Amino acid sequence: MHEELATVLGLMPDEQKSVVAGREFWLGHLHGHEVVAVLSGIGKVAAATTATVLIEHFGVRRILFTGVAGGLGADVRVGDVIVASQFMQHDLDVSPLFPRYEVPGYGIAVFDADPGLTAALGRAVQATLADLPHVLLPGVVETFGLHAPRSHHGLLISGDRFVATTSECRVLQQALPKALAVEMEGAPFAQVCRDYGIPFAAVRTVSDRADDAAHVDFLAFLRQVASRYSWRIIDNFFRLSQIR
Ligand code: ADE
Repeated sequence: MHEELATVLGLMPDEQKSVVAGREFWLGHLHGHEVVAVLSGIGKVAAATTATVLIEHFGVRRILFTGVAGGLGADVRVGDVIVASQFMQHDLDVSPLFPRYEVPGYGIAVFDADPGLTAALGRAVQATLADLPHVLLPGVVETFGLHAPRSHHGLLISGDRFVATTSECRVLQQALPKALAVEMEGAPFAQVCRDYGIPFAAVRTVSDRADDAAHVDFLAFLRQVASRYSWRIIDNFFRLSQIR
C-alpha cells in the first residue's frame, strides 16, 4: 500500500522513478544495497505482472514482499506479523481436471518461500517486535488494542477477494485449517519467482481478522501500525542480514 511504500522510500537516500507497465518503480540504495521498491498492485494478476517486470526488466536477484493480511489462525491477532513459509491460492479450482487448489502444469498447490531469505526476514521481524516503543508512535498500542504482538511462521493464502465477512472467513478456516492469514498477492509472487528461480520471502502484518469488522479503521491501521512495521522490518533486514 502507498503508506507502506512511503516509509520504505524514506530509507532510500537516492531513489529515482522509472515507469514500466504503468507502475512506478523506485531504483536506489538501501543500506548500500541496490534495490528496486514498488507497489505490487492489488490482486493476483497485478502481483504477477509486477513480479515479472521486477525480474525481466530490472533483473532483480531476490524479492521481499511486505504488506498486510487478514488473520485466520485461531491465535493470530491484529498487530501480529506473519512470516510466510508457504503460499497457495485459496480461490483456484480446476477440479475435476486437477485436484482442488493445484496449479495446472506445476503438479502442486503449495509454493515454498526461500528458506534463507525467510530466516533473515524472521530475525528482522523479531528485532522489530522486540523494540515496539521505538517502532510505533506513543498511544498507538492502546488505540488499536495491540496485545504483545508476536510473529507466526507458516502458510499464507491468496485470492482475488478481500475477505470481510465472518461466514467467508469460517469457510476458509475449515477448508484450509493450516492457513495463518489471507491476502491477495503472495501466491502469485511465489509462483512467478519459482518460474524464474528467484528467491522470494514475504511478511504480512495482520490488519484485521477477515471477518465482519475487517474494514474498520483499515487506513488508520495501515498508517500507524503496518507501515511503521514495514519500515523497521526492512531496515532491520538489511542491517542484520549478510545478504550480498
Ligand atoms: N489484506 C488485509 N486484510 C485482508 C483480508 N481480510 N482479505 C484479503 N486481503 C487482506
